[in-house]
Amino acid sequence: MSHLPIGAPVAPAAAPAVVAGTASLPLARRLAEALDAPIVQREVRRFPDGEAYVRILDDLADRDAIIVQSTHPDPELVEMLLLQDAAREARAASVTAVVPYLAYARQDRAFHPGEAVSSRAVALALSAADLVITVDPHKEEVLRHFTCEAAAVTAVPQLAEALARHDVEAVLAPDKGARERAGDAARILGVPFDHLEKTRLGPTEVRIQAKDLDVEGRRVAIVDDLIASGGTMREATRQLLDQGAAAVLAACTHGLFTDGAVPKLLDAGVDRIVCTDTLPAEGCEVISAAPAVAARLREAALHAG
Ligand code: R5P
Repeated sequence: MSHLPIGAPVAPAAAPAVVAGTASLPLARRLAEALDAPIVQREVRRFPDGEAYVRILDDLADRDAIIVQSTHPDPELVEMLLLQDAAREARAASVTAVVPYLAYARQDRAFHPGEAVSSRAVALALSAADLVITVDPHKEEVLRHFTCEAAAVTAVPQLAEALARHDVEAVLAPDKGARERAGDAARILGVPFDHLEKTRLGPTEVRIQAKDLDVEGRRVAIVDDLIASGGTMREATRQLLDQGAAAVLAACTHGLFTDGAVPKLLDAGVDRIVCTDTLPAEGCEVISAAPAVAARLREAALHAG
């Protein structure tokens, strides 16, 4: 598959320029708009053996190259690495890697002897950038694996804004570990908050065991960092509807949506799925993480200035 160069030529003034990776085109465009930055002309294609070819066609001298590319699935990670190298070749003054969805962040330690610490391996490779910015990583601790500057921003305010439009009356975290993110959403919305207890029965199967909040008659939202198979959300939805919830909304930053997750969630009774544009998504309400990333980039530029 080949991709034609996109975007307008880079203007000569010293300002950031956005390099749009093929995994994150809509978000890159929204970010360029938010920053009032041009999109760099570039070429990305694949050789017949599947290897990537990347070329940046603009001279980026005195420019801050902001590369936007999620690193899932694996070929997208390689594209990001090549885009970083191409930005250096194009003489970028600095390279910022915006990784909207940082893959492998869930394997942030060796849970068993001899296991790869996948998030560390990925972080070390991405550290060829001067600055890495990611959105709602599974755990912020993954940032410690980068050898360049690294920061996380959150799209929870944007998710909360969307949930407010759907009259959400309570927020639930799918488990204890997700309390902070869901709690932030609840505080922004000004609604009660609780967490669910989950037992994982297999890679795609979970049982929701208990909760404290009385959901009867309420429109509740479950807020998580990501939905993969949707098993977590599906089981929670069934239980909450059994307990009398008026509606269950499923909200996440990253919609991986494996195994037909979206139709399965809707079949399970989910009223609406809300996610961000860190990954491509269909059948959901998609809001943009661009404002959160743009705010952090402006902050970084202020500090640099
Ligand atoms: C787990 O720790 C994550 O925060 C998500 O809850 C989980 O990965 C979702 O997976 P699935 O959608 O397959 O249940």
